[in-house]
Amino acid sequence: MFDRRIFDQSIFGQSVLDQRSVNLESSDHALIETRRTHNRTARPLRAAIASVRIVVVAALSAALTSFALMSLALTSLALMSLALMGPAAAADFYPSRPVTLIVPFAAGGPTDTVARVLAGPMGRSLGQTVVVENITGAAGSIGVGHVAHSPGDGYTLSIGHWSTHVLNGAIYDLSYDLLKDLEPISVLPNNPMLIVSKNSVPATNLKELIAWIAANNRAGKQVTDGTAGLGSASHVAAIYFQNAIGANLRFVPYRGTGPALLDLLGGNIDLIVDQVSDSSQQVRGGEVRAYAVTAKTRLASLPDIPTVDEAGAPGLYINVWHGLWAPKGTPPEIIAKLSRAVQDGLADAQARERFAALGLDVPPRDQQTPEALDALQRAEIAKWWPIIKAAGIRAE
Ligand code: MLT
Repeated sequence: MFDRRIFDQSIFGQSVLDQRSVNLESSDHALIETRRTHNRTARPLRAAIASVRIVVVAALSAALTSFALMSLALTSLALMSLALMGPAAAADFYPSRPVTLIVPFAAGGPTDTVARVLAGPMGRSLGQTVVVENITGAAGSIGVGHVAHSPGDGYTLSIGHWSTHVLNGAIYDLSYDLLKDLEPISVLPNNPMLIVSKNSVPATNLKELIAWIAANNRAGKQVTDGTAGLGSASHVAAIYFQNAIGANLRFVPYRGTGPALLDLLGGNIDLIVDQVSDSSQQVRGGEVRAYAVTAKTRLASLPDIPTVDEAGAPGLYINVWHGLWAPKGTPPEIIAKLSRAVQDGLADAQARERFAALGLDVPPRDQQTPEALDALQRAEIAKWWPIIKAAGIRAE
């Protein structure tokens, strides 16, 4: 009988049909002949098809190559045009990816809180996500240094305050210059500080607290005070407090007052001179005790807490203002865009409500400008550097 497998194999595989292995009937002979004829005519046809295929593939490759070359040329042309049009045109495309705010202290602390309240509405104004990243250490100087050494493209910004962008310049040998390596963007909310203790401290007002610290000092016992590192706002404010009352505190450094407050709540340290925004919630909740606010007037958000003048440490005024900076070289159009986004963020109803609840004052709109921040920072450097140097506060 006709074996189709052998037949097919011979036609399409081996060129010779092995007729000895099959017993063919006449109709099968006819079929074999037809296939042979087909094979003879099909071979040139297949060769022709293969040639056409080669030509088509070659043509497609050539088209793709010229398309890729054309795209490359167009991209280079676009980049060259952008460079020729200058930073103003570059600013038109800004921001085309997320913007990062570098908080130089631990998450959950006062600087982090300002950044996170602002990030949402600021991002909505920019049409891009604003990401908050914490780079901590050395009282904020590591995080600020990270930004000062970043490209001036508007994508990495430094949020900080009175100590990070003023005091640190007198306390640390910084690898950057606070004025020359950073561009001011906007003044951000400010708040005074609270002298707070853990609840087990046996004092109900500031005078009793001062007496308790003195008694501990006389007995050779240490009273511990949590800070955000040498030269931070909480550290410098506590030095002022200890000097004003003639006491000695043992300072315990943390990567921010967020974690310091957790240790105060846990009873592991005795005191913090803390920004209002950090501990006001715990004060209201009765979890820690506040003795005085470092301002001339009482706070609307904590009206029961006396001022330092009322409580017995007259003149101990400290106000921690925040600000936002970009690396030097950031195009002015981008700085202007960022400043407008901050202004929009600070005008946002929800953000304002949150700032007010935390005891943070939003500066008036005409103060939320690069010029206002520049003037404030320079005035504060002129005021505080001599005080810090005279007080001998210095990182060794
Ligand atoms: C923080 O965010 O932890 C504070 O701003 C630190 C400080 O006291 O300077």
